[in-house]
Amino acid sequence: MYQQILTEVQQGTMVITINRPDKLNALNKEVIQELSQALDEVLHRNDVQSAVITGAGAKAFVAGADISEFPHLDAAAGRQLAAFGQEAVFSKIENASKPIVAAINGFALGGGCELAMACHFRLAAANARFGQPEVNLGLIPGYGGTQRLVQLVGKGKATELLLTGQMIGADEALQLGLVNYVTAPEELLHKTMELLQTIHSKAPLAVKAILDLVNTATYQPASGLAAEVAAFGQLFDTADVKEGTAAFLEKRKPTFTGR
Ligand code: COA
Repeated sequence: MYQQILTEVQQGTMVITINRPDKLNALNKEVIQELSQALDEVLHRNDVQSAVITGAGAKAFVAGADISEFPHLDAAAGRQLAAFGQEAVFSKIENASKPIVAAINGFALGGGCELAMACHFRLAAANARFGQPEVNLGLIPGYGGTQRLVQLVGKGKATELLLTGQMIGADEALQLGLVNYVTAPEELLHKTMELLQTIHSKAPLAVKAILDLVNTATYQPASGLAAEVAAFGQLFDTADVKEGTAAFLEKRKPTFTGR
């Protein structure tokens, strides 16, 4: 069904692998379209509780937007490229009601770094390299990089990285808070799946509320506390709160149903 990506559901997680290793998994139009479709699958399939995005091969997560598509673009087409990608993939990930995590297995440059940053959190293999090199092309990031890099690492370091286009390694990314964990390359997917299994054991409506509220904290902080109060209240009307609290009091593990 997909030509540019691979998908496989393992233990309730859809592993989405961008599969153009000979082009370092660069994001061309087809990859963006297929990622968008795969994300719709993640959101709509009842047997899928989360997703991992990773890259094929040992060298790259994603080495950026496909630069070979750029020479033909004018202002309107450039705007369209960024707007379509943001809506179809990057914002769809960020606004997803199920956790979507990046497992960064090599170069995460330009659109690759932006794809990782749109995910709810990130794990990196020790050989991962990060950067926003668009400035070297006379460009700027178009898939959210100027905004999400500031949110994740702070204004000073983000400005430096955006202006110099320089790459950083996995350990520096960890130190900056760009990624949550650094693992050996062969451990990356296992560690990612393990974290997602922990999340799968939680009440899905609580997970969804947390994902929403973290976005509120990021984009509408003035209304965040009120939104938290409202969501906290609403959850008391769910079967899962009754189950979770009863299970605690009865000293057993809860079984959540998502209702
Ligand atoms: N778009 C299109 N093709 C890309 C690409 C991109 N963003 N990144 C890598 N490729 C292609 C290369 O053109 C090359 O294709 P070819 O074998 O047909 O010539 C192939 O992937 C392998 O890349 P190569 O540059 O030969 O590997 P390397 O190990 O020498 O360098 C990088 C690796 C990541 C440092 C280098 O590929 C690079 O700088 N890529 C562009 C990063 C970038 O600017 N991204 C932001 C885009 S907005």
